[in-house]
Amino acid sequence: MANDTNKFQAIISHCKEYGFIFPSSEIYDGLSAVYDYGQNGSELKKNIRDYWWKWMTQLHDNIVGIDAAIFMHPTTWKASGHVDNFSDPMIDNKDSKKRYRVDHLIEAFADTLPKEAGEAILQQMDQLLAKEDFAGLKKLIEDNKMKCSVSGTCNWTDVRQFNLMFSTEFGSVSGDEGENMVYLRPETAQGIFVNFLNVQKTGRMKIPFGIAQVGKAFRNEIVARQFIFRMREFEQMEMQFFIRPGTQKQWYEYWKEERMKWHLSLGISPEQYRFHDHVKLAHYADAACDIEYNFPIGFKEVEGIHSRTDFDLRNHQEFSKKKMQYFDAETDENGKPYGNYIPYVIETSIGLDRSVMMVLSEAYEEQDLSTAEKQDSRVLLKFPPKLAPVKLAILPLVKKDGLPEIARQLMDECRASFRCFYEEKDAIGKRYRRQDAIGTPFCVTIDHQTKEDGMVTIRYRDSMEQERILLKDVKELVEKAIQ
Ligand code: GAP
Repeated sequence: MANDTNKFQAIISHCKEYGFIFPSSEIYDGLSAVYDYGQNGSELKKNIRDYWWKWMTQLHDNIVGIDAAIFMHPTTWKASGHVDNFSDPMIDNKDSKKRYRVDHLIEAFADTLPKEAGEAILQQMDQLLAKEDFAGLKKLIEDNKMKCSVSGTCNWTDVRQFNLMFSTEFGSVSGDEGENMVYLRPETAQGIFVNFLNVQKTGRMKIPFGIAQVGKAFRNEIVARQFIFRMREFEQMEMQFFIRPGTQKQWYEYWKEERMKWHLSLGISPEQYRFHDHVKLAHYADAACDIEYNFPIGFKEVEGIHSRTDFDLRNHQEFSKKKMQYFDAETDENGKPYGNYIPYVIETSIGLDRSVMMVLSEAYEEQDLSTAEKQDSRVLLKFPPKLAPVKLAILPLVKKDGLPEIARQLMDECRASFRCFYEEKDAIGKRYRRQDAIGTPFCVTIDHQTKEDGMVTIRYRDSMEQERILLKDVKELVEKAIQ
């Protein structure tokens, strides 16, 4: 089995070889931190997206979904604080001209130290970041002789802020003074905030209630060389839960627990997760934590849970001059109506691409199947059946004698319910291995015996066990497994 860094590289190669993920515009040598999903990757991604959507909306009474535009009025991003605050402290190496996010440079250095020394550096960094003490951060880097990975020198510029939003021109004519400039949204959340009253009124929603959304977000990430872990164009699955002010602590805890349940429902063991409480809070939050997953490159954030107070709605009210208030007809313990207020918000925000990376990391396995007689191995993706790109491979043993006809009939019966794959070429063993490599949980082989007894061989991906079952039972078996 590959070690962890090698495993990460092995997953990247496997994703390319088996149609999961390709570098974007690869024929032109790619575009840094931008990726395309292939025929299997897009199915996997869609299945994760659908599972999140169903869990958050269909399985909660009080959460509905929307699909807001990527382009939003530019004032949205002033109100949200992104124009002024959505930036990271950066430092450039004067020799190589390579730019680093300060926290990433220091974290990478801390990783090279013994545990206690590394933790002490990270603690100092957190304190300096919280105070926005840029001179202190530069001193920390220089005092510890942190080097640029390209030039190998310690010749650094001052630490500066760098905004991560992409901008573009809106309309056909470039305007003066940036009046036609719009941003590509850096988070989907603002599309929910600006629609808060539209949804609340038209859906007659009562607090507490949530609005969910899945969509693309764009960030001009500086350190972006971790495959789909850190991309410049990525997809988020976010939910804003609108609550009465003063109840945020209780709902924050509720959503931490509830989201962890979702993760565990993917069949991933609890040891693979941990919570990481934020010391440095984003400009909008009064509490925040990450759900970290143990990727092959270590424990890293896959989801954020944020108590966003009334920051966003209050600022949109101020900038738009439109009331963002909710009338709460219920009464408190003294019988006094709660009346009008700007709701507080708990946000759950998970990266879809990082979820794909998580599911791939969990599923990827290299197995040595060698026996005394021969060397053998296989690579398989042990996806939960509900997430697998293909659920069932239908394989006639030979291309003649009426076997393809029976196989095609099964295909017609099943394809409306779940994704099947038909293949009649190559030896059956080879075909099984190709299905293992894309994570197909079930293969069914139709042979000459099938014509006589109506039975087929079903082969299970993980155990490689095979058994004879009735052809007419195949569809139900798969349907049960993917529920
Ligand atoms: N609305 C809150 C928000 O955007 P965030 O912690 O910046 O919070 C939420 O992002 C999630 O989006 C992260 O947990 C991560 O999974 C995903 N994400 C953020 N930046 C990303 C990037 N550059 N590439 C891929 N996923 C990213």
